[in-house]
Amino acid sequence: MAREWWRDAVFYEIYVRSFADSDGDGVGDLAGITGRLPYLHELGVDAIWLTPFYPSPGVDHGYDVSDYVDVDPMFGTLDDFDALAAAAHQLGIRVIVDIVPNHTSDRHPWFTGDRSRYVTVPSANGVPNNWPSNWGGSAWTLDEERGHYYLHLFAPQQPDLDWHCSAVRSDFEDILRFWLDRGVDGFRIDVAHGLVKDATLADEPEPLPAVRLSSDWRRAIDQPEVHDVYRDWHRLAAAYPGDRVLVGEVVFSDPRRVAPYLRPDELHLAFNFSLVFQPWDADAIRDSIDASLAALPIVTWVLENHDVERIATRFGPREARAAALLLLALPGPVFLYEGQELGLPEVDLPDAARQDPIFHRTHGERVGRDGCRVPLPWTRDLPTRSWLPQPPGWGELSVEAQSSDGTSMLSLYRHAIALRPHGSFSWRDAPRGVLAFDRDGLTCVVNVSGDELPVGEVVLASEEIRTTLPAGAAAWIRA
Ligand code: GLC
Repeated sequence: MAREWWRDAVFYEIYVRSFADSDGDGVGDLAGITGRLPYLHELGVDAIWLTPFYPSPGVDHGYDVSDYVDVDPMFGTLDDFDALAAAAHQLGIRVIVDIVPNHTSDRHPWFTGDRSRYVTVPSANGVPNNWPSNWGGSAWTLDEERGHYYLHLFAPQQPDLDWHCSAVRSDFEDILRFWLDRGVDGFRIDVAHGLVKDATLADEPEPLPAVRLSSDWRRAIDQPEVHDVYRDWHRLAAAYPGDRVLVGEVVFSDPRRVAPYLRPDELHLAFNFSLVFQPWDADAIRDSIDASLAALPIVTWVLENHDVERIATRFGPREARAAALLLLALPGPVFLYEGQELGLPEVDLPDAARQDPIFHRTHGERVGRDGCRVPLPWTRDLPTRSWLPQPPGWGELSVEAQSSDGTSMLSLYRHAIALRPHGSFSWRDAPRGVLAFDRDGLTCVVNVSGDELPVGEVVLASEEIRTTLPAGAAAWIRA
């Protein structure tokens, strides 16, 4: 049997609102993506992941879905989706869509209707338990009119579904089939570890701080029954030809808690966020790579997505280039986030422009995620409308500006994807502050913070180097 395409793929996340705007309203759309597929083809990615584009009131920009089987008019129509998928497939680019099964919008007919599919508790005995919302405050909202509390691990406008309810399970199987029948190559599953809650709604053992990375929660997430859901979905996807893939957003800082989701009859892939939690420190990065490789049957690599600070800001602009060579030399599928290939920094937006519910629910204590969601600059001259303001100087980071510059971050990503090594992985001895490992015929050397290092025959480097590699730079060397 041929090796599944996703085992070594480069995935590219498209945050649909912020990628490409075809009609000038300041918001990206599906036709905009179709128009930019040649760009993605040239970049060399194997698959795109589209963030939710379904009808939604937009409280969490699409992660509050009010209809799972249609397209929000802001983004286009189902015909636009079909055209996008067909054009991508023509270019050999696979398409995965984001499915949001943990919660719906509070405008979904299931919620405005009888609410039998949700986690609700009669209000007589007060707040049901001590669970916090990821975004501040309690996870419970009282609906006085209905006489119950309903659960929301995120915003109150995102009520959690009850996955102990069989109707929820069969509805979602229908939703998956709807998109598989339309030709999608798989799903990115939002909050995949969260769907099933402890059936008794027991308190979390310790009162927990409300943080997005709910790694330490024991009752509100990660219940044994969630694995039955993925066994069913695995069977469902396997009935379609072409190795459809299920990618879970399974957020734990310890990869050992991710491993059970990757059993052979469950999810094919899960994001491994361990590198997202690391500072630019050689020991920390090496330990996290080792822990991931030891814990997981297949390891994905992620440095950025639409929920975290951009690496050009987290690590620094030079270090972000070195990190690109690290990322693309690691063994297994890689997930890039739009704009990572342009080296876009996190944008410090004025408070008045911020839209993320995290900012508003925590009264500004957490700035939220708008800073990594500013629309991509395509041309030196910026468009007049943009749903989040593009900062001054953004045009110099544009695709237009970087395309013809052989030293740009974009050129580095294009080369690195084209030259990406495969084959087995093994560490090499390296001086303090340096990471070095072999992949077929290539050695990847990342000088995180060490002394200047002599290097041999350079195949690709993160910056112009003569004979030595300074701290903050990386190179692929002929082994
Ligand atoms: C996931 C998404 C995030 C969203 C949340 C709630 O973590 O990546 O953007 O806000 O789920 O759906």
